[in-house]
Amino acid sequence: MSEEQSQDLQLEHQKYLQDLGGWSRTHTCASLTMANNGETVCLMGWVQFRRDHGGLIFVDLRDRDGLTQVVFSPDIAPKAHEDAHILRSEYVIAISGYVRPRPEGMKNPNLVTGEIEVVVHDWKLLNTSKTPPFAIEDRCDAGENLRLAWRFLDLRRPRMQQALRLRHTIAQSIRRYLDDKGFLEIETPFLTKSTPEGARDFLVPSRLNPGQFYALPQSPQLFKQILMVSGFDRYFQIVHCFRDEDLRADRQPEFTQVDLEMSFADEETVMTLSEGLMQAVFKTVFNKDLPTPFPRMPWVEAMARFGVDKPDTRFGMELVDITTIVAHSGFKLFAQAKLVKAMKMTGGEALTRKEIDSYTEFVKAYGAQGLAWIKIKENEWQSPIAKFLSEEERQGIAKALDLAVGDIVFFQAAEPDIVNAALGNLRVHIAKEKNLIPEDQYNFLWVTDFPLFEYSEEEKRYVSCHHPFTSPKEGHMERMQTDPANTFARAYDMVLNGNEVGGGSVRIHNAQIQRRMFDALGIPKEQYEEQFGFFLKALEHGAPPHAGLAFGLDRLVMLLSGATSIRDVMAFPKTQKATCLMTGSPSPVSAKQLRELNLRLRETQQ
Ligand code: AMO
Repeated sequence: MSEEQSQDLQLEHQKYLQDLGGWSRTHTCASLTMANNGETVCLMGWVQFRRDHGGLIFVDLRDRDGLTQVVFSPDIAPKAHEDAHILRSEYVIAISGYVRPRPEGMKNPNLVTGEIEVVVHDWKLLNTSKTPPFAIEDRCDAGENLRLAWRFLDLRRPRMQQALRLRHTIAQSIRRYLDDKGFLEIETPFLTKSTPEGARDFLVPSRLNPGQFYALPQSPQLFKQILMVSGFDRYFQIVHCFRDEDLRADRQPEFTQVDLEMSFADEETVMTLSEGLMQAVFKTVFNKDLPTPFPRMPWVEAMARFGVDKPDTRFGMELVDITTIVAHSGFKLFAQAKLVKAMKMTGGEALTRKEIDSYTEFVKAYGAQGLAWIKIKENEWQSPIAKFLSEEERQGIAKALDLAVGDIVFFQAAEPDIVNAALGNLRVHIAKEKNLIPEDQYNFLWVTDFPLFEYSEEEKRYVSCHHPFTSPKEGHMERMQTDPANTFARAYDMVLNGNEVGGGSVRIHNAQIQRRMFDALGIPKEQYEEQFGFFLKALEHGAPPHAGLAFGLDRLVMLLSGATSIRDVMAFPKTQKATCLMTGSPSPVSAKQLRELNLRLRETQQ
């Protein structure tokens, strides 16, 4: 068919594009099997593929459920066959025809519909498509930016369809579980006042109140606590949260939390409920019974053994504190450091110089100066630092790490924060790179007893580790101001395979204690009364004891689907630079809009 004829035909078909023309779909593209043999059916979907073969035209018709092979035959329906020459990938069509078995040798055991094909009597063009910039299939080599710019096409790929379907299934199982447990789903505002969760706020200027701004919620924390004061007892919400922070594979500027709060509850109530919730999700997704209770590990132990507050317990390589062993070492770096830790990798003696160099670069991102190492050989310890270690020190290290020939040991000696971050992250990096992590294993873990505060170098003051509404541990109230570094919190994080999937705490429900918390954080009284006065007032009017938690839904779906980035389980994620490549946001606004909002941009940005 010539190009001209093809266009004429398209035009003829497109005359009817406005509606379905009375056609009605009888099945999806993944439902027909031999049980439908001989039936007349109507399918609608996208042309995945057109193949012209021995006078016949074959089309793989795709919808969200799968593929069905349809055949246009010149003997059976000559006009339909002739017209089918215009079909291209991603055209949208309706076909009607009858189901028949595929000839022997043509069956496809990998497809639900692989035993049959539909022989077309008639078909209708529902829409044409320009040639897509990449093939709509899982084996797609388009870069992520191209896929994000063409997200509407990217989302047609089976993998993305499955990811969002899984997300839906998980969200539904969460809703069912929480509903069963008496939780009420209550929405809270997006245009609100700042709720501090440790990130920057996204601000929204108010046209009706010139010079004033709303903040998009970093979480519904204050509202959910107020709902407890209001007597709702058990609240949940699957809700968007907004945080202006540096982005990573597991962080987006807007993301979804499964947010919940319970009255007359403590950490046990929330943790048991949350474990039950994970069990329900696991049952739905994998049809597996997840064992509970999950192991618990105080934060101090997590930092000591794993160097991070979200340990991946699927593999070993735990960190070992050797500070006392090398306290008097001739190796000054070790002797003088506040903390010296070592990490053994069994069989690591085979690592190349290049690999070790790459690990050295890796730890520098965590503030480390370098990375000391020793390879345990048959007759020697091979290392640039081995000569500085006495026999006694060697024996002490060998015993502490249970060393054997073939191992490599990495060392960090520095400030505790740096030692832990460098080795803790290197541990995971090496394990991933060397495939040391068992697949299909889901290790849940509670990390408990977090510090209440952490020192912020940027702000030169103590800030909350979680948020300022977290209750101090029993007996730690007095220390809040006198010894903030050693004050611990009634906070708990749920960790899955080294990822923080949820976090929560028992809350302060007494206004006086809440004020003392703000004092301890060094927030001036006028400021907290102005910023949180409404909340303090609520606490003064019969606030019940309450506790809660929020899960990161995106992270949970990512981990359960085996994806490596939360972008792969979100319909319309942002890039690393917080832009949407499909819509082109953020983007400049008109001078008129700025005027209405009483805003003026600085020269440099105009
Ligand atoms: P938190 O800040 O720990 O707690 O957040 C809860 C969970 O949300 C997920 N999460 C994120 N996911 C994607 N992108 C982000 N930028 C991002 N930030 C957080 C994580 C995290 O565990 N109001 C408290 C909860 C509470 O105390 O009840 C809160 O928001 O999985």
